[in-house]
Amino acid sequence: MKLILHVWRQKNSSDKGRMVRYDAPNVNEHMSFLEMLDVLNESLIAKGEDPIAFDHDCREGICGMCGFMINGKAHGGFKRTTVCQLHMRHFKDGDELYLEPWRAAAFPVIKDLAVDRGAFDRIIASGGFISVPTGSAPDGNAILVKKQESDLAMDAAACIGCGACVAACPNAAAALFVGAKISHLGHLPQGQPERDRRALAMVQQMRAEGFANCTNIGECEAVCPKDIKLEVIARMNRDYIGASLTERPESTTAGAG
Ligand code: SF4
Ligand code: FES
Repeated sequence: MKLILHVWRQKNSSDKGRMVRYDAPNVNEHMSFLEMLDVLNESLIAKGEDPIAFDHDCREGICGMCGFMINGKAHGGFKRTTVCQLHMRHFKDGDELYLEPWRAAAFPVIKDLAVDRGAFDRIIASGGFISVPTGSAPDGNAILVKKQESDLAMDAAACIGCGACVAACPNAAAALFVGAKISHLGHLPQGQPERDRRALAMVQQMRAEGFANCTNIGECEAVCPKDIKLEVIARMNRDYIGASLTERPESTTAGAG
């Protein structure tokens, strides 16, 4: 099939950027979306042109590196599908596709479709971990975890940090991502000693990075390729408010939830 692509081209974060039209002939329906771009890039390189920059790593839907807007929808808008797992059989001959990077002040464009998601890394570094003393590994069965709690922890741990939730949110809020990380550790007994400190630190860092508050619109849940639920935002708010009352009475809420 033949596609017409309109791709956002931007040299760096200070460049204004613009849409550029490309013809993509001979697109095979078995290609992934990123493979289709690989082929387009090979033709651009052969012509001496600058290839289109886009992020990727695993191409298996697990690393969270890939992601951009296709016709205004994060990852293309297909249920539980990252753009690396999206195949060309979902499109038809003659389709015209508009590819743009995530749009959020906290995710500056590096080049073309690639954005800097270092803000997510800094939020994780602020508290998204469990501190453990060094020494031999503890027996895996030494701390029992209720099935319901382990299921909830695993569901939240499915977040791959792709940033689609931020890109889809009209507020460019990161509440689904931060809520997932807080919930994932907060459902486990090992996560309890640092639960208050974690919620305070991660929400504060989220604000410092320039993400806006959640207003319960729900676009994040709708586009999340890992099916992270809005409940994680409610849990983030509960943990944050609880920690604020005991540790910082003057604090406000993290956002609606
Ligand atoms: S919550 Fe979903 S959309 Fe947001 S970063 Fe995690 S996996 Fe991506
Ligand atoms: S490249 Fe790893 S999730 Fe898409």
